Parts: sequence; C-alpha cells; structure tokens
Amino acid sequence: MRGLRPAIFESISRRRSELLTGEGVVGGRLKEVSHQQSDFERPMQQAKSSSEPATTADPAATLISVPPFDLARYLRERTGVIERQLAISIAESDGPANRLVEAMRYSLMAGGKRLRPILALAACEAVGGQIEPAIGYACALEMIHTYSLVHDDLPCMDDDDLRRGRPTNHKVFGEAIATLAGDGLLTDAFGLFARSAKAAGIPAELVVDTIAELADACGSAGMVGGQVIDLLAEGQPLTQLELEQLHSKKTGALFVASVCGGARLGGAAPAQLQALQKYARALGLAFQVTDDLLDVEQTTERLGKRSQKDHERGKATYPSILGIERSRAMAHELADHARDALAGFDGRAEPLRMLAGFAVERKL
Ligand code: IPE
Ligand code: IPE
Ligand code: MG
Ligand code: MG
Ligand code: MG
Repeated sequence: MRGLRPAIFESISRRRSELLTGEGVVGGRLKEVSHQQSDFERPMQQAKSSSEPATTADPAATLISVPPFDLARYLRERTGVIERQLAISIAESDGPANRLVEAMRYSLMAGGKRLRPILALAACEAVGGQIEPAIGYACALEMIHTYSLVHDDLPCMDDDDLRRGRPTNHKVFGEAIATLAGDGLLTDAFGLFARSAKAAGIPAELVVDTIAELADACGSAGMVGGQVIDLLAEGQPLTQLELEQLHSKKTGALFVASVCGGARLGGAAPAQLQALQKYARALGLAFQVTDDLLDVEQTTERLGKRSQKDHERGKATYPSILGIERSRAMAHELADHARDALAGFDGRAEPLRMLAGFAVERKL
C-alpha cells in the first residue's frame, strides 16, 4: 500500500497529524499543550460539578485548584481510544474478500478528526454515563461517517482525488471496490453496534431506539437525502433557508445522532436529550458552515482534501450565499447557541462546550 503513496501525501498526513495532536489545540486555538492533568482525566465520579458548593471560603483558591480543560490532550486520548477499537473492529482478513477489507481499512484508519465518536462519548459522560458501553456506538458512527466520505468522493458525486491526506479510495481500489467498501462500512457499523451493545448488557429497548435514530439520521430522511439535495442543487441558487435544510440533513443529522445516541446510552433523561438535540443541531450546522469556509480559505495541503472545489462545482455553500465574514460570524453564533443549550449541565459537559468552539475554530 505504501508504494501507492507519493511523498506529497506522506507530508500532508504528517502535517495533519501534527495539527491534530502535536502542537495542540487548546480551547479551539493552536497553543502549546499543557501537561497538567485536567478535571476530565480523573474518573467522572470525582469531577467537580458546577452546581456543587465551593468547599473553601476563598474563591480565588477554588479557581487555582481547577486546572484549565486541556482540549488537545482530551482529543488525543479520545482519538486513541477510538482508533484502537476501530482497528480491532475491522480485522484484517485473508479470505476472498481481502481486497474489500483492505479498502475499508484504508479509509477508516487514515486519520480524521474522529469528531462524531468523540462527541458521542462526551455526551455520554455529560449525563453521568461511563464511556465503555458506548465505545461500540462511537466506532459505528465513525464507520458510517467514513463510508459517507468514500461515496462523497466518487466520480459520480464530488469527484475528489484526495481525502484525509491520501488518494481517495476509488483512486486506489477502483470505483467498484470503493462503492462496496462504503457499503461494507455502513452495514458493518450496525452489526458492530448491535453486538457491542448486547455484550455490554445495554437494555434492548435503548438499543432499538438508538438504532432507529441512527438509521433515520443517515438514511433517506437524513444524510443520504441531504447528499441528493446537495448534488441536485449544484449550479442552482438556493435561499439561506434551503441551504440550512440541506446542511442539517447532509451533516447535521449524523451529529444529532452522535450526541443524542451517546447521551441515551449514558442514561440521559428526556429533558437532557432535548437540550442535547438543540446543542447538536447548532453544532452540526456550525461544523458544515466551517467546512464550507475551510474549502475557500485553506490550502489542499493543510486540509488533506482538495480546497477551492465547491465554487468550481457550483456547490451551494454559506460563503457563496452570505460571503466569508457573515458566514464566519454565523458559525461562531451557532457555536454560542450550542453552548447555551448546555446551560443546565454541570462541569461534566465541559468537553461538549469546548468541542463547540473546536468545531468552528479548527483549521482542518
Ligand atoms: C468532512 O467531515 C465531511 C463533512 C461532513 C463536512 P470531517 O471534517 O469530520 O472529516 P474527517 O473525519 O475529519 O476526515
Ligand atoms: C460531505 O460534504 C457530507 C457527507 C459526506 C455526508 P462535503 O462534500 O462538503 O464534504 P467534503 O468537503 O468533501 O469533505
Ligand atoms: Mg459533497
Ligand atoms: Mg465532498
Ligand atoms: Mg466540503
């Protein structure tokens, strides 16, 4: 496989992984990583709740005793948890479908921000759940997201040749295997979640509800429906409302399923699920507005996928309708709305708050 990766792809991959893990993203901005232990690296039961009364009379002393949340470290650790499990979930095979499994692993293990699974685990913790039973769900989300990218890049869709710093799946394996690799990732995701949930002893009703929500989010009423609107809208003028509907289906729906699914598995109460749905809707839209902005503003090398292509293909995007400055302001406003939705949550929702900032301040 390495023979298929020219030096440019190696350098893009290296730069991307530095951006995600090496230099550190603290509070969504690039800063030097602090190696202080954060509140969230201790077991959740020990984490301070913001509703707890202070145990000291000196408020300054309380402030000093709580180290700032280290988002870079958190992202690095969670990415590690997810990638280790993903590698096991799609085991290498030497059977007749070897080429298919190779193609699935090629895209799945190529890096990526792993934001959907990280959000699922963060939402699980925000409602007081333990992450272990939700890891299978988190991996399923990443498999579904990766399938959507493999298909999104096909010549019949966005026709892209670079993804996650590597040649796209169909460039390496051909269109037929790439299509089937996407099919395999999507289908296997549901099998993985069902089996892992059973092994973790999650009540069947909870699992069925989560599967139904996930299927709706990625099916014809959600992501796939959004992709169709995206393609049909190429070269067409859309209103801002139509664009919002398109983005909320093609990208937002999977974010909602990530956050709400993770929270449900963590034992969320109905009111918490409602608030988290609001959070995820705002975050999902903010994320896609930012994706549109990055396409205009960043280089191909930085993104690990070709930039400046939305305009070329006549895609309906926020920068094309609102312009860059208003789009950026809107993304930040949406991130604020997302954080506002978490007003009723305690300190255990801090990762979710930080991830809202990350979604709009990221550089890839
Ligand atoms: C890209 O998603 C596709 C969109 C929905 C905008 P990501 O930006 O999360 O891609 P990876 O997973 O980090 O590669
Ligand atoms: C892709 O949106 C959304 C899905 C894969 C569902 P884009 O087409 O904007 O994503 P990129 O920019 O190619 O990553
Ligand atoms: Mg697309
Ligand atoms: Mg695309
Ligand atoms: Mg895009």
